Amino acid sequence: MSSIDFKNLNIKVPSPIVEVKTSLLEEKDLQLFIKREDQIHFEISGNKWRKLKYNLIHFFQNNFKQVVTFGGVFSNHIYATAAACYELGIPLIIYLRTDKIDPNNPTLQFVQGKNAQLICLSRESYREKDQAEFIHKIHREWPNSFIIPEGGSNHFGLKGTEEIMAEVKVQLSSLDIIALPAGTAYTAAGIISTSSTNQKVEVFSALKGLFLQSVLHELVEDGTKNWVLYSDEYFGGYAKVDQTLLNFIDWFFHETSIPLDPIYNAKAMYYLFENIKNGKYSRGSRMLYIHTGGLQGITGYNYMKPDNRILIDY
Ligand SMILES: Cc1ncc(COP(=O)(O)O)c(C=O)c1O
Repeated sequence: MSSIDFKNLNIKVPSPIVEVKTSLLEEKDLQLFIKREDQIHFEISGNKWRKLKYNLIHFFQNNFKQVVTFGGVFSNHIYATAAACYELGIPLIIYLRTDKIDPNNPTLQFVQGKNAQLICLSRESYREKDQAEFIHKIHREWPNSFIIPEGGSNHFGLKGTEEIMAEVKVQLSSLDIIALPAGTAYTAAGIISTSSTNQKVEVFSALKGLFLQSVLHELVEDGTKNWVLYSDEYFGGYAKVDQTLLNFIDWFFHETSIPLDPIYNAKAMYYLFENIKNGKYSRGSRMLYIHTGGLQGITGYNYMKPDNRILIDY
């Protein structure tokens, strides 16, 4: 097989773009569109499909025997990779950042249901997973494996994310602002590289701190691109969720019928709306938010916090 059979996977691209309206947007005279990457596929959703696509094509073109990948126990990447590999008949081994497998964890239940083989790594060993010695060990244990890094963040992943703006260019004209969340910043790099110089890309990190700035400088060589990175200062960093964020998820769903995951999209959208409230964007601007999916994170969150659940349908 030299390319993925899209029909078998039932991947829906181009993902649709919808306009959302709220009284704040009206008051500030802004138009906000959302690219529903979350609707690409129920299980292989959002930027996860974009990042897997060329990795999987490479897998088939080179006759590898299995895929090996990595992730945390609630990772959107392991969820999507397990679903894609299962549909395509690819054996999958996942190295997990955990000492033991919680049999009730819904993400792990899902990936096991897709026949993925799970191997636990302590936090210390997990940190060494990208080092040559560990990679050799994987190839010894699993000969002829194709290794997809955590989050699908490699040059194949980047190539896939560059297709998002190619779709947007056909779907929407004259955009001023493009906004999206970031974890490794590979999706943001793909968007920035393919944006026009008169557009500004607002990147909202799901992590505290601005270390992704150097990643973006490295991945986006074109210095004429206009982008800014925001740190997750208010919520305090990766996977930190408070009542303000939960209320925002409810409010946004109520206003737009669009679900947001608590780890990436709810935070990015929250910060985008804070910027809007603070008058950061010129009146008349046309803005596009890229919804990167990850909605299974709601199930993971609800499992961890059964007394303070996110009660939206997705
Ligand atoms: C739903 C979702 N949105 C955004 C991101 C961040 O993407 P990236 O790592 O390319 O910055 C991820 C994963 O890392 C994700 O799962």
